[in-house]
Amino acid sequence: MNMMTPFPGQGRSIERLSELLSRRTGQLLSESRRWHIETSLRPLLREQGLPSLDALLFAVERDPNGPLMRQTIDAMLNHESSFFRDIAVFQAIERTLLPRLHGELREKMLRIWCAGCSTGQEAYSLAMIIKRMGAMWDGWRISIQATDVSEIAIEKARRGVYSQMDMQRGLPINDLLRWFAPVGADWQIADEIREMVHFQADNLLEPRRISGTFDLILCRNVLFYFPEDKRRIARDQFARHTRAGSYVILGAGEMMSCSNGIFTSSRNLSCAYVAEKPADCSRLAF
Ligand SMILES: C[S@@+](CC[C@H](N)C(=O)[O-])C[C@H]1O[C@@H](n2cnc3c(N)ncnc32)[C@H](O)[C@@H]1O
Repeated sequence: MNMMTPFPGQGRSIERLSELLSRRTGQLLSESRRWHIETSLRPLLREQGLPSLDALLFAVERDPNGPLMRQTIDAMLNHESSFFRDIAVFQAIERTLLPRLHGELREKMLRIWCAGCSTGQEAYSLAMIIKRMGAMWDGWRISIQATDVSEIAIEKARRGVYSQMDMQRGLPINDLLRWFAPVGADWQIADEIREMVHFQADNLLEPRRISGTFDLILCRNVLFYFPEDKRRIARDQFARHTRAGSYVILGAGEMMSCSNGIFTSSRNLSCAYVAEKPADCSRLAF
């Protein structure tokens, strides 16, 4: 028995599925996550009546752009997310970052990109914050673009329907009462919030649906799964889509190399970065 895999005979398939995931998304499965591939894909095998990972590989390779490929990639990704995940970050956005951007952006246009937005909770949390801030944004054009490599996650995000369990993970009761309505056992987000976010399937390593620069980019709990070369590509994409003074926020514990001289890490929020603006060091104090 091959000691590297708990499923005798499936080691090669697991290897090829990991390669497939890496080619399509840049994500590198750690040894421990590889062991879970079979568990993650088991419901799909059952649903499709396929006897093994080999059979699944054979089917997806026959139709590389088909729905089964999308489902296979989606099942191997980690879509873990919740409303207001890491509350301190959202508090910093609400109390510090957005008021600063409000004071600085003369053209009254705020552009935000959530890269790796999963099923939408992060982007909708931002939209709820902006609504909560109230009249100060009257007369502004606010654009929240949210992208994820998984089309399935994006479809769910667009629907904006969440389970009771999703609602119990960090969503303040006031926001629940104000912005959600029950639909059967689930909750539907209000159109007023839903319409503030534009969701699109896109790979952040080679974005095709994102253009121009953003004042704030959130890419949280995504880089963690990239090898170093892909992290650098992601960082260069952020550089391409920021202007001097824009902010980039990563997940807690994620880091971005500042060696390209474009980003400086924030002193007060370890996962926040500021695109370099030598003439104005005041915002580096954030
Ligand atoms: C763990 S979730 C994090 C969701 C959200 N940002 C949060 O922190 O709650 C990571 C998401 O990144 C997405 N992802 C992975 N690789 C990606 C890529 N190359 N481009 C865009 N999204 C990607 C996954 O599909 C997944 O939905």
